[in-house]
Amino acid sequence: MQLQLRDIGHAYGALPVLDGVSMTVEAGEILGIIGPSGCGKSTLLAIAGGLLKPSRGSVSTTGVPPAGCLNALTYVFQDFALLPWRTVEGNVRLGLEPHGLSAADMRGRVELVLAQTKLGDFRAAFPRQLSGGMRQRVGIARALAVRPAVLLMDEPLSALDAQTRLLLMDEFATLFATSNTTVIYVTHNLSEAARLCHRVIALSRRPGRVKEIVGIGEADDISLVEALLWSIIRDEAAAADRELIDAR
Ligand SMILES: Nc1ncnc2c1ncn2[C@@H]1O[C@H](COP(=O)(O)OP(=O)(O)O)[C@@H](O)[C@H]1O
Ligand SMILES: [Mg+2]
Repeated sequence: MQLQLRDIGHAYGALPVLDGVSMTVEAGEILGIIGPSGCGKSTLLAIAGGLLKPSRGSVSTTGVPPAGCLNALTYVFQDFALLPWRTVEGNVRLGLEPHGLSAADMRGRVELVLAQTKLGDFRAAFPRQLSGGMRQRVGIARALAVRPAVLLMDEPLSALDAQTRLLLMDEFATLFATSNTTVIYVTHNLSEAARLCHRVIALSRRPGRVKEIVGIGEADDISLVEALLWSIIRDEAAAADRELIDAR
């Protein structure tokens, strides 16, 4: 399945946050979205996921969702959004329960994603017993269990400490490569974008416009890609900072 955004514009009241953003996410692609703080990344993701109706433009899909897909566009939240009174397994089952699956289908999906996220040994644990990195793995397991056509990730590592972030970034790379998931990955962290994504869309400062699109090959040097991404958004980030000061 392909997801297309055409000429998206959005304003919150009098504040324009997105202006004429178009993009296509191909099946199997990990598409990064970067840009200075406040440029409209989360807004764009909410529009892509159908949570927010844009002031202008359209969102559409073509092709068929993957086999067994229960929810085409599925979110992974920065703050994990787990239910504290449910175990790891209970949280993973949460997104499946409304779908009336057979017991065997339910069990098969749960086991697969627990294995993919290395949570099998922790299925009976409660969120409070887990580290931040493990909690986010539960968030990802829950999202993968519905076999989404597109996984929408909004700064999924930004609530974690630096070491955990590096660890999980490696796990994401493996997971994305093996689970054949399509992902829109919003981040302000350029090394995450360089390491994880096939293609990165750099937005300008608010109102966000597509400034540049960078394709990343498997053989590319990650630190060079990161430097390139920084050279693209550096001026935007600096200008966004100055505008914040001017607005005071
Ligand atoms: N619900 C809302 N109502 C009003 N303004 C909002 C709302 N959500 C976000 N904004 C503002 O819109 C701009 C873009 O926000 P957001 O999409 O969250 O940016 P980003 O994720 O790139 O940091 C910011 O200036 C933010 O303060
Ligand atoms: Mg955001």
